Amino acid sequence: MGQNISITNHNGVLKIKRNRRKSQKASSSKENNISATSSTISNFQKSKAEESYQSSSIIVQDHEYIFPKPVSSASLDLRDLPYDTLKSEDDRMNANQFALKALFGGNYLEEVGNRINFESTDTKVLDIGCGSGGWVMCIRPANVSFIQHDATLGLPYEDNTFDLVHMRMFLIAFNKYQYADCMKEVLRVTKPNGIVQLLEVEMVDDGDELVKEFGAAVEKIMEANDQDALIAQKLSTIMSTYGFTPIQEVRKSFRLNNHPLASEFLYIFDISLDTLKRMVFAVYGLSTEEEYKHWKLKWLESRKNSSASTWWCAAGQKVVVAAN
Ligand SMILES: C[S@@+](CC[C@H](N)C(=O)[O-])C[C@H]1O[C@@H](n2cnc3c(N)ncnc32)[C@H](O)[C@@H]1O
Repeated sequence: MGQNISITNHNGVLKIKRNRRKSQKASSSKENNISATSSTISNFQKSKAEESYQSSSIIVQDHEYIFPKPVSSASLDLRDLPYDTLKSEDDRMNANQFALKALFGGNYLEEVGNRINFESTDTKVLDIGCGSGGWVMCIRPANVSFIQHDATLGLPYEDNTFDLVHMRMFLIAFNKYQYADCMKEVLRVTKPNGIVQLLEVEMVDDGDELVKEFGAAVEKIMEANDQDALIAQKLSTIMSTYGFTPIQEVRKSFRLNNHPLASEFLYIFDISLDTLKRMVFAVYGLSTEEEYKHWKLKWLESRKNSSASTWWCAAGQKVVVAAN
């Protein structure tokens, strides 16, 4: 094998470095040119980040529901995570990566590929909230470093650092204000003429009564928590608002009963719903696991038979006009 991967966990920062054979080493002039952040925080980082992160919750009908800590393979601190949660979260994020790559025909939009040289070891890429690291690894980077950091506290990078910043599936992790603040930070750390790529899903779908009813409940709950269930449709507008010039937007909508990727996405919905389980219990007044499983089967059947799923990916450029 020409390459091996070594993993070290050092002071809360997990680094994964792909080492090349000696003969190849000379061709790589830069190290750590891809960075990925995730908020999973290890026990020894007792910081403001931890406090604010662990209080992540949602209000449903006057009750506060604490979300389970998101997990990521960038964290090796598994002590307080039930194995099943970890397994399904990682599974979901990996399934998401493969399904979205297939749906959009690649890891990045055409206009991003036209502007970013992924072959160059000088190209610097940041993936915020990298999850299991699937997107990053699909770019086949020469070097990667994963850091654990709460992005709501700002991005721990110098101004004008990255050629490309990627951020995907933050519509529940962030509220509108956190999303906006993060976009300001993304603009700051993006190089002049650098690119941002965002991707989100619509949380409200047309379909039969059950699909519409649950979609409406989710929208209401998200609204009460300052989240936007339809933020996916607004990605280009958000980019413009925060200083990027939109360069491409792609909407992918497909029916869940006859698309080649339908079963992949239904599988993702199945696991994703478990992370919102407490919300389903509250909305439908459920009290047992059996009731939940029964409800979930009915909802998945309804999604499959009556609805579509809609995803948006948008890219923008930090256009800097040279002063005369
Ligand atoms: C729905 S997952 C999406 C993962 C990945 N971007 C993908 O598309 O597969 C959301 C990710 O954001 C991370 N996250 C949530 N809140 C965060 C925060 N405040 N700062 C940094 N990452 C955060 C979670 O740890 C998780 O990996």
